[in-house]
Amino acid sequence: MTDLLSPVLTRNWGHDRSWTLDSYRSDGGYEGLRKALTMTPEEVVTEVKDAQLRGRGGAGFPTGTKWSFVPQDNPNPKYLVVNGDESEPGTCKDIPLLMASPHTLVEGIIISAYAIHCHTAFVYIRGEVVHPIRRMQRAVEEAYEAGLLGENILGSGYDLDIVVHAGAGAYICGEETALLNSLEGKRGQPRLRPPFPAVAGLYASPTVVNNVESIASVPSILRNGKDWYAGMGTEKSKGFTIYSLSGHVANPGQFEAPLGITMRQLIDLAGGIRSGHELKFFTPGGSSTPILTAEHLDVVMDFESLAAVGTMLGTKAMQIFDETVSVVRTTLRWVEFYKHESCGKCTPCREGTWWLVQLLTKLEAGQGQEGDIEKLLSICDDITGKSFCTLAEGAVACVTSAVKHFRDEFEIGYHTPAWEHLPYEKSALFAVAPQGAAA
Ligand SMILES: Cc1cc2nc3c(=O)[nH]c(=O)nc-3n(C[C@H](O)[C@H](O)[C@H](O)COP(=O)(O)O)c2cc1C
Ligand code: SF4
Repeated sequence: MTDLLSPVLTRNWGHDRSWTLDSYRSDGGYEGLRKALTMTPEEVVTEVKDAQLRGRGGAGFPTGTKWSFVPQDNPNPKYLVVNGDESEPGTCKDIPLLMASPHTLVEGIIISAYAIHCHTAFVYIRGEVVHPIRRMQRAVEEAYEAGLLGENILGSGYDLDIVVHAGAGAYICGEETALLNSLEGKRGQPRLRPPFPAVAGLYASPTVVNNVESIASVPSILRNGKDWYAGMGTEKSKGFTIYSLSGHVANPGQFEAPLGITMRQLIDLAGGIRSGHELKFFTPGGSSTPILTAEHLDVVMDFESLAAVGTMLGTKAMQIFDETVSVVRTTLRWVEFYKHESCGKCTPCREGTWWLVQLLTKLEAGQGQEGDIEKLLSICDDITGKSFCTLAEGAVACVTSAVKHFRDEFEIGYHTPAWEHLPYEKSALFAVAPQGAAA
């Protein structure tokens, strides 16, 4: 089974003090950079394009193509901004990478910045994760001390500074244009597009925004070559990626495997569903991606195959739920998150997520009434395609997919509380008092 794994990004995570420059270098670290600096920036862009690396932040946009959109005739500085906001429920890959091997990201940043003619790069990290922020700051300091950052990197004549920035803990600041506003010290709300960041991003200058994992994948492509990378994965989804498995599996965690592995294989890698239970539903790519059920276990985990069954690969965060879990309760918890994180800029999202929470709260308490499910779906319809950014689409996706697969459970909410139908203590991984019991 372990031959399904393809540890590249995670290969050194178990090494002694893997986060230090010495440890990273002892394992071939910064060789990709040395190779990149012998190439022209344009050749580096072509190498990443030909490797067919696609963004790991959710949408799967080709990384090299994004870099080639940066207008080099624009006289303004070019910026690279690495998105380490990682706040999507269930997603846990960028933060472990920052903890275990921040130099993989530093090396990726230097190569990527070189490719787009950028001399100042930013890493925007979710503010709550203080320890990974410190690891990243220290790695950047070590890189300066070793001549890997600053002026005339490794004698190449190329200069680069990296700024590590801690966000204040808002999910919307992971949306790339809200992130840029936040970096500029403004309220973290999405911007109207066009112009796209590649043309007018940070400080109205050409900017590439890429996910931590996307940029961390770049050194291995330079070190091993585009054909090595493109030799893994499926026809249109190449390479390897980190899947985060959480919930009712025996051994939750991060598993690095090629794109194209199936959900069944991933669950097996995580030791299977917890003993004595069976799979009920799961998210393939975080709570913003429509849920799937046991009938989808053999769907291939790549961008195209998941789109074909009406969902998305997203951030490859699988939240796995067994038969003890109430779908109504889970959906309510997710929608509460989106309501809380809605930035309030547009009415369909700000008001719609509030109304979804009201209705789901009634259904969870068994106080729903005939027509509530239709009302839920109608609100979803009022949000879909009418909101400013895709945060709202994520809130809708979990509701509509839950109703599609488990409508009967929502109907039970017309007369019976979810905690009576499916007692919550049965789904808990740790001991909890039954709902309604005295504290
Ligand atoms: C509400 C919301 C939150 C997001 N959060 C993140 C995030 O935490 N990290 C991330 O890389 N992308 C996030 N994205 C996607 C980014 O807008 C952007 O597409 C991504 O950083 C591009 O990187 P990539 O091309 O390397 O995938 C989010 C998008 C939305 C709408
Ligand atoms: S959809 Fe929601 S998060 Fe996005 S801009 Fe509108 S209110 Fe803000």
